[in-house]
Amino acid sequence: MVLTRAAGCVKKIIRAGEFQGYRLSAYIYNSFLNHYIIVMKKISLTGIKPTGELHIGNYFGAIKPALELAKEYDARYFIADYHALNTMKDPKELNTTIRHVAAGWLACGLDPEKVIFYRQSSIPETFELTVMLTAFTSKGLMNRAHAYKDAVQKNIDKNAGADDGVNMGLFTYPILMAADIIIFDSDIVPVGGDQKQHIEMAQDIAQSVNACYGQQVLKVPQPGIQENSAVVPGLDGRKMSKSYNNVIPLFAPEKTLRKTIMRIATNSQTVEEPKNPDTCRIFQLYKLFAQAAEQQTLAERYRSGGMGWGEAKEELFRVINRGLSSSRERYDTYMADIRSLDKILDQGAEKARPIAGATVKRFRKAAGID
Ligand code: TRP
Repeated sequence: MVLTRAAGCVKKIIRAGEFQGYRLSAYIYNSFLNHYIIVMKKISLTGIKPTGELHIGNYFGAIKPALELAKEYDARYFIADYHALNTMKDPKELNTTIRHVAAGWLACGLDPEKVIFYRQSSIPETFELTVMLTAFTSKGLMNRAHAYKDAVQKNIDKNAGADDGVNMGLFTYPILMAADIIIFDSDIVPVGGDQKQHIEMAQDIAQSVNACYGQQVLKVPQPGIQENSAVVPGLDGRKMSKSYNNVIPLFAPEKTLRKTIMRIATNSQTVEEPKNPDTCRIFQLYKLFAQAAEQQTLAERYRSGGMGWGEAKEELFRVINRGLSSSRERYDTYMADIRSLDKILDQGAEKARPIAGATVKRFRKAAGID
């Protein structure tokens, strides 16, 4: 928030739509104070890699916290389709996954009127910025990236060439990600802990540019690590993750959802035995969807014995299905009309491109290209 007396200053800010990198969200003239009160929101940005079907773990770990943040911040959320291209070479699969993920976020409540929602591939300015940033990124920094190091280690372990199967997209992944972030003057980047190093690299790269020109050409982003977000157990008790093949999908039809929940692995306790809700993954999942009174009732049934795992799973299915049915309907509606869905994303890109263009212009000018 900024207080100012000068009408000229307010007009300039309104025309530019920003002030010191903050986007203008409202301005009010307070005649009592004889001041303009300008409301500026900080910018939250995150990228969503379209790698497969969205599941309950994605919802509680990424989607829900990012949508919460969007209430307070000026949010820009996008589908990182060029990042996915590094690993996904089946055109049909990539094409549907992009739509699935976009429809999924919208179905979960992302409001495209409030959040700028777009596809990475629709912002060519990002790729111009990527090229510029490569000139400020040491190769050594990329050598230290976890994903690249893991790939090399795996190759060494199986006696293959160190860089076998490593494409340049994987190697330079953090530079493209830095461009995604920096191009929108992002203040905070909500991501899981596995992405922390990437945000630190984006900071390093932005700082190198600023140090080189002796001015703040690029905004240095901060990570918003979601460490306290709910840990969602998968069907086998490990963290729910596509790579463990233990997920409960968000938008599967009711029948499939029920079948999946029935697959949750349990121990061999008999129906009669009292059970402990606090160490049970069915109950952990139940807590994410059930009301407090329902949780209490089920916990008592656990403790008093006489309830089998089948019954607990049925009760879990009931609350999950109740919780997901309206977003599943919205998801189906989006997926039934891909044209409208693409239009929403295109409209997001239209809003995003002028912001991206301004950053590239600023950088080109500082660098002496323009
Ligand atoms: N690397 C992120 C992931 O794998 C996706 C991503 C791409 C991203 N660009 C980004 C996240 C920019 C935050 C900001 O999940």
